[in-house]
Amino acid sequence: MRILALESSCDETAAAVVEDGRTVLSNIVASQVEEHRLYGGVVPEIASRRHCEAVAGVTREALAGAGMTLADVDAIAVTYAPGLIGALLVGVSFAKGLALAAKKPLIPVHHLRSHIAANYVTFPDLRPPFLCLVASGGHSHIIEVKDYTDLRVLGRTRDDAAGEAFDKAARAMGMPYPGGVALDRAAEEGDDRAFTLPRPSVDGAPYDFSFSGLKTAVINLLHNASQKGREVSVPDLAASYRRAVVDCLARSFVQAAEDTGAKTLVIAGGVSANSLLRRRLGAECEKRGWRFCRPELSLCGDNAAMVGAQAYYEFLAGNTADMSLNACAAMDISGAQD
Ligand code: KG4
Ligand code: ZN
Repeated sequence: MRILALESSCDETAAAVVEDGRTVLSNIVASQVEEHRLYGGVVPEIASRRHCEAVAGVTREALAGAGMTLADVDAIAVTYAPGLIGALLVGVSFAKGLALAAKKPLIPVHHLRSHIAANYVTFPDLRPPFLCLVASGGHSHIIEVKDYTDLRVLGRTRDDAAGEAFDKAARAMGMPYPGGVALDRAAEEGDDRAFTLPRPSVDGAPYDFSFSGLKTAVINLLHNASQKGREVSVPDLAASYRRAVVDCLARSFVQAAEDTGAKTLVIAGGVSANSLLRRRLGAECEKRGWRFCRPELSLCGDNAAMVGAQAYYEFLAGNTADMSLNACAAMDISGAQD
C-alpha cells in the first residue's frame, strides 16, 4: 500500500510517499527555519502563510520523486494534531482536497505517533511492544507503545519540553534559534564537569520531567558571570548543561523500562538527534542487554516519511476520516483531546 503523506504541524512543510509503512519512496521537506530565526522562534502566522505557499509544490515533488501521479497512491495521510492550529489546518485542508478529488481514503495521523514511526523506517524489523521516549520542541513523554495504535503515556514534562529547554539555554548562550543542534555541537568541544548544575526530578512521579529549574540555573549562572565581568566558556557550559538534561531523560526512561520490564527502548522527536542522548542510551541498553533504536538523523526532525509510516498502521486499524476532519492544536497521544 502506497501512502502520500503530508506534514505541516510547525515550521516544515513536508510530503512523502511511503510503501507499507516501512519503505520511503520519496521524502521532501521545505524548512522555514531561516525566516523564523529572525524572530528567535516560530511565528505562527508566518508559518501558516509559508505552508500555503509551499504545500502544493512539495506534494508535486514528492509524487514526482516516487515516479507517481496522484492516481497511483492508495491513500492520503496528514498530521492533524497536535501543533500550531493555523499550520495544521493548511495540511489538513489540502489533504482533504486531494482525497476528495482523487477519491482516496484520508488517514489522520497524530504528530507524536508519527515521530515514533520514524523508527519503523530505520528499523524494518521493529515491532511493538516497546517503550519510547519522545522528546521534541513541544513535548517530552515516556510512552508505552503496546501496539501501533495503542499507546499509553507513562510520564511527561511538567513544564518545558526537552527541546525547548535546549533552545532556551542555547539562546542564553548566544546561539541562534533553534539552538538545540548548535548547543549539541558546542558541547562536543567542552568539559561536561566544568559547571555543577541540578538534576531536577518530580516528587512522587519518577517518570515525569521538569526542566525549567535547570534552564533558570544556566540563565542565572550567565547573568552572575556577566555582572562580575567573568568570561564563561560556552563549550564547557553547553557540555555541562547537555549532560544534566540527558541525565534527567535517561534516569526516568531507564527507570520506567526497569519497572515495566521493557526490553526494547526507542527514542523519537527532534531531540533524539542529540549525540549524547544517543550515546548514553545506547550504552545503558547495551549494559542491560536491551535493544536500543533511534531514527536515522534525517528522520528525527519533522518530516512526512514518518507520517506515511504511521498512517499505514492507522489504516490497518480502521482509523480513516471523512470530509469532517478538523485540525486540533492539543491532543493526547492516545487520541483524547487535551
Ligand atoms: O520534533 P521537532 O523537529 O519539532 C517539534 O515537533 O517540536 O523537534 C525540534 C526540537 C527543537 O527544540 C530542536 O532544538 C531540538 O528538537 N533538536 C535538538 C537537536 N536537534 C534538534 N536538541 C538537542 N540536540 C540536537 N542535536
Ligand atoms: Zn515534531
